[in-house]
Parts: sequence; C-alpha cells; structure tokens
Amino acid sequence: MSHNLHQQFKKLFNSEATNAYFSPGRVNLIGEHIDYNGGLVMPCAITFGTYLLVAPNTEGKFRLRSINFEEQLDIDLQTTYTKQDKFWFNYPLGVMAHFLKDGHQLQGLDMLYYGDIPIGSGLSSSASIEVVTAFALNELFKSGYSKLDLVKLSKWVENSFIGLNSGIMDQFAVAFGEAEKALMLNCDTLDYQAVDCHLGEYLLAIINTNKPRKLAESKYNERVQECQTALAALQTELDIQNLCDIDAAKFKQYEHLITDQTVKNRAQHVIEENDRVKLAAKELAAHNLLEFGKLMYASHDSLSKLYEVSGVELDTIAEYAKNAPDVAGARMTGAGFGGCAIALVKKNAFDEFTKGITEFYTGKIGYAPSVYSSLIGPGVGVYNG
Ligand code: GLA
Repeated sequence: MSHNLHQQFKKLFNSEATNAYFSPGRVNLIGEHIDYNGGLVMPCAITFGTYLLVAPNTEGKFRLRSINFEEQLDIDLQTTYTKQDKFWFNYPLGVMAHFLKDGHQLQGLDMLYYGDIPIGSGLSSSASIEVVTAFALNELFKSGYSKLDLVKLSKWVENSFIGLNSGIMDQFAVAFGEAEKALMLNCDTLDYQAVDCHLGEYLLAIINTNKPRKLAESKYNERVQECQTALAALQTELDIQNLCDIDAAKFKQYEHLITDQTVKNRAQHVIEENDRVKLAAKELAAHNLLEFGKLMYASHDSLSKLYEVSGVELDTIAEYAKNAPDVAGARMTGAGFGGCAIALVKKNAFDEFTKGITEFYTGKIGYAPSVYSSLIGPGVGVYNG
C-alpha cells in the first residue's frame, strides 16, 4: 500500500512525499442520532480509512489529488477559502479555511489522498478526510492545536463549510479511536472512556447496502430540527439543556408536552436509545455479547419505526441477521438512509453469513450488498506502513 502510494505521489508531483498520515473511518456500535442531543454514544475506529501523503512545494499553492476521484484542485494560498460545488476537496479546503480563520500561516503543499472506506457508505469517510488533513497541517505547520481542537475544527468544517448539522461523534471517533476499544463518549461534556471491546468468538461484520444516498443530508438536518422542536416543548416545564438529560421514565411523565406525534416519536427514540447505551456498556464490560446484541436489534427497530432513518435495505439486513444462526446482533450504523449495517457474527460462520445475506438481500432488493469484516483500529496518526 505505502510503496504504491509513494510511487503514485512521485508520478503525480515529480517529487518524493516527505510525510504520510492515516485516519480511520468509524462504526457506531450503539447510540445512534444521539450525539447532537447531548447523550452517550459508543463508536469505534475501523481499519479502513484515509491515507494522506504530502510534500512542501515552492509554488505557494495547494495541489490536491485523490486516487479515488478524478477532480483535482490547484489553488493559490489565500486569506480564506469558500466551498466549491460538491467536490471531495471541499473537506480539506474547509480545514485550511479554519486554520486561516485562526490566523495560522500555511505554505504550499502537494497532497495526495487515498481512501479505502466505501464513499457515502456512512462509515465517516468525510470525518476521516477532515481529521487526517487537520492532523497533517497541525504537525507540518506546528499550529499548536490539541487533538480535541482538531476534532472541533473538523466538526466546524462539516457544519459551517459543508452545511451538515452533524454532531461530534464521527470526528471524535476517528481522532481518538484505539485498537480493540470502543469509545464511551458523553457528547455533552466530551468526557470519554476507551472501553475494552474484545469480541471473543465474534467478529465485526460491516454490510454496505450499496444504496445511493439521495436526500440524506436534508433528511438528517430535518431530524436535528425535529429534536430541537421536541426539546423546546419539554423545556416549557423541564429545566434541561438536551433531550438526553432525561431518561425514558421521566419522558413518559412529560411526553404530553409534545403535541406532534412524529416529533414525539423522534424524542422517544433519542431518550430510549441513550438509556440503551448505558445498558450496552454494562453488557460489553461483562462480555455478554448476546445481551449486547439484543440491544443492537432494539436500537435498529427504534431507528426504523420511531426515528424513520432506516429503509427497506437496512431493514432487510437486520431481518436476515435476526434469523441467522451465529449472529449475536445487528443494526444500521451512522446516519442511515442507506449506508451500512453492522453485525456481530461468529468468526467461523462469517463465510456462510456473507453468502446467505448476499442471496437474501439480492433477492429482495435487486442488487447485492458488500460484506466486509473489520478489526477495531487506532485513531489518526503518522503512517509508517
Ligand atoms: C452521522 C453524523 C453523526 C451522527 C450520526 C448518527 O454520522 O455525522 O454526527 O449524528 O450520523 O448517529
């Protein structure tokens, strides 16, 4: 991989790359559509991710290339940058804009990106590219940001440069991930714990629906808005800052304050899901993967029926998993509207699972899913591979 990327860099820029970095993608084990409601999430970094090779140039330009995309960017050093259409390089460009906004001096760089995260699959390829860029610039120009600053800066890119009102989970997971650990992150305080995630006889399977994600961004922003509406209704009687400040029992007492049934359903999902994360953490610590798996199915069900971010593709995967032997649990992961599901599958049954789900899904949906297995890997860093 590394050898090949270095060769590609030389071919494109006619010079050797001086530094290389890697940032992973992520899956979220449980705690979905929780981060922008100030609750608990449990993501982990995966071993797929984004590689970035760089070298300074003397032209005073950023020259951005990608092995995955044809579009390329050559842009002079400027005092600020603005979003350009819908191109991939808006993510690095947004990061540069933030460094400039904070008054940092940048210099010309040649940059080559390569990602092995399936694009648009809900595995956070965008957070991965933001964080790898922010990490690299911070190292190269000694900008003095902490890792948490890089996470917040990358979230700013997503929210203010790209226009998606996402929470902080993805950027946090790809920056702070650790091998064989899940992150129990409180999205309100940003306190977190890296908890052991030994899967024993199971492995983490990732099933990509391969569904083109249309309208995902506007639907996502709509959910954020609905949660704000629910919060405002509850705040008429409750002194809370986030939906996740109350548990399901308290919600039962106050749900009448929310008049719109759809908005009420959204809040119910968020509040019950936050409770589920607490239970899931206990089951994981006790190595009760079967109980953990039940909570994954419950999470999926709620995302499908109450939060309405699943769809026939993701539901088909969950349905197959539920009836398959050797699967502890499964659920959609990430924003939804297509993208990926995850499943805990017995290692020695993975091939059979792959075959079975491919047949079942293809029969129902009309095209095949992609099935991978991934280890839980480390977060962003220098790449020496
Ligand atoms: C996307 C967003 C995250 C989070 C998830 C849903 O991945 O980027 O901030 O809201 O959806 O849990």
